Amino acid sequence: MLRHLLPDPASVPVEPDRLRELVAGREWFHTINLGHGVITPGIDDTPAKLNWLDFPESLNGKSVLDVGSYDGYFAFESERRGAARVVASDKHCWESVGIADGRGFDIAHWALGSKVEKRLISVEEISPASVGMFDVVLFLGVLYHAQDPMRYLRHMFSVCSETLILETHTDGNDHDEPMMVFYPKGALNGDPSNFWGPNVACVEAMLYEVGFGNVEVIWQKATRLVVHAHR
Ligand SMILES: C[S@@+](CC[C@H](N)C(=O)[O-])C[C@H]1O[C@@H](n2cnc3c(N)ncnc32)[C@H](O)[C@@H]1O
Repeated sequence: MLRHLLPDPASVPVEPDRLRELVAGREWFHTINLGHGVITPGIDDTPAKLNWLDFPESLNGKSVLDVGSYDGYFAFESERRGAARVVASDKHCWESVGIADGRGFDIAHWALGSKVEKRLISVEEISPASVGMFDVVLFLGVLYHAQDPMRYLRHMFSVCSETLILETHTDGNDHDEPMMVFYPKGALNGDPSNFWGPNVACVEAMLYEVGFGNVEVIWQKATRLVVHAHR
């Protein structure tokens, strides 16, 4: 479902003053260069996150699904890197009011003249029937929000034909065996949508369990982890 998309810039050209006004009128999660001299003032250091991911330099001809896309930085970056089809999905944020209402995505989509497809769809609704299959699936900053992490990962596996790029919070890395820390009632950063901190061994084990054939740890620092999981 498309909500409040701005006009196609091919028919209504982006007017820099109007863009500056739109960007200044809201809070941003992602830091996105929209062109026209405008960069969104994101609270997230998105370009730094991009460096952790070992994001493919070229996505020429690839299909990419960005799950939990928020303001859409990684979806737009995939498009910029040549992806033939990019789908950005989210639900929690895009249905809320304020910083995460999905309007940031729409403003960036308009300013960039993007063809990224926006899908207001929960992780639980993602399947080959609802969105199709993708060469690359981005699952960044979402796993620890899952009440049932294995279920979320099964949905990711079901639509991934090549590589899942997963970034997550971790905990319990002083344990070698797979384990997860549970955060009741917003115990992690006061955010009640944070539920689980799996350790690195647990992230790897869950990915193998849902069907991935090869899991590579790409980057790890303090509690953050990036892995690439291949079919
Ligand atoms: C921390 S943001 C990450 C945004 C982006 N993927 C990134 O890495 O910069 C988490 C995103 O996951 C989405 N999400 C998916 N499932 C969720 C859930 N069960 N609880 C909360 N957020 C969820 C949110 O709507 C939000 O856009």
